[in-house]
Amino acid sequence: MTETEPHTQDPLRESQHSAVATGAVEPGPLDEVSSHRTIDPSVLYVGTPVYLVATQNPDGSANLAPASSHFALGRTIVLGLEEGGQSLDNLRRHPEATVNFPSPSQWHHVERLAGVTGKHPVPEAKAETYEFEPQKFARAGLTPQPSDLVTVPRVREAPLQFEIKVARITDAASGEFAMVEAAVVRVHAVPEITVPGTSHLHPDHWSPLIYAYRNFYARGAEVGFTRKSPFAHTPEPLAKWEQHGGAWNVVNVTDEHAQVDLLRCDGGEVVDRLVLREPRELRWAAVQRATHP
Ligand SMILES: Cc1cc2nc3c(=O)[nH]c(=O)nc-3n(C[C@H](O)[C@H](O)[C@H](O)COP(=O)(O)O)c2cc1C
Repeated sequence: MTETEPHTQDPLRESQHSAVATGAVEPGPLDEVSSHRTIDPSVLYVGTPVYLVATQNPDGSANLAPASSHFALGRTIVLGLEEGGQSLDNLRRHPEATVNFPSPSQWHHVERLAGVTGKHPVPEAKAETYEFEPQKFARAGLTPQPSDLVTVPRVREAPLQFEIKVARITDAASGEFAMVEAAVVRVHAVPEITVPGTSHLHPDHWSPLIYAYRNFYARGAEVGFTRKSPFAHTPEPLAKWEQHGGAWNVVNVTDEHAQVDLLRCDGGEVVDRLVLREPRELRWAAVQRATHP
């Protein structure tokens, strides 16, 4: 029987809370899913982080608008911005911006911008529900902060800020919005949400403001992780066993320990049993058990 040593050197291995490790989230069998209804929701905002996009107005001042439609892949971010808004007009003329991610506690700053546009005159479609506001930062109660590589300011209060340069703007087939494809040229993060000594954001310390349906939420506790997570280290003895061609099987996981059988690669015969006790390794074991049933 082999016991593992706690890994105290790696900052990524500091004790974390995980619903998987504590058993709070048990993957349920698919047959428990009830019958679906066909619905026709007015919006399809299933839950995306909110960002504040800062762009440059024709007079050189900054516009700031809340949005949530976006995705990021590699070093590219794609923003979904409505036609008729000042932000999109600005990006077509001056292809630089900052994308600023507020924290959940800052939702009211976002909401202060919900009924205003930097476009003058206010487009007819928005005339009843929006008013013109040239001073968006002041209106939101937020502070412009100079950027490094673009001429548009960042939002000082936002814990995570991207400086972006637009590569292409593609009109949506519906004509209602455009997809703004941009290179993220610099990322700024407050130290509290990073892993010291690395370029990682700390997933337990960074929680975006989530816009789901039409409501704001904070992200909940971690429920699992993918194998590419910087936290997804295979415990060392098991990694070594794998390197030598062996396989393993997580037999059970409790709040205190996990039992892992070491298997021979040929016949799958159990040759040893490893007991894991360190919280991060319990998490790893719980994730393996959930994903390799
Ligand atoms: C929480 C929230 C999310 C929003 N998401 C988007 C979005 O993804 N894309 C968009 O174009 N507008 C979005 N809007 C609406 C814009 O903020 C709104 O149209 C605003 O007038 C744009 O400002 P501008 O005209 O100065 O660019 C969102 C508004 C709020 C409050």
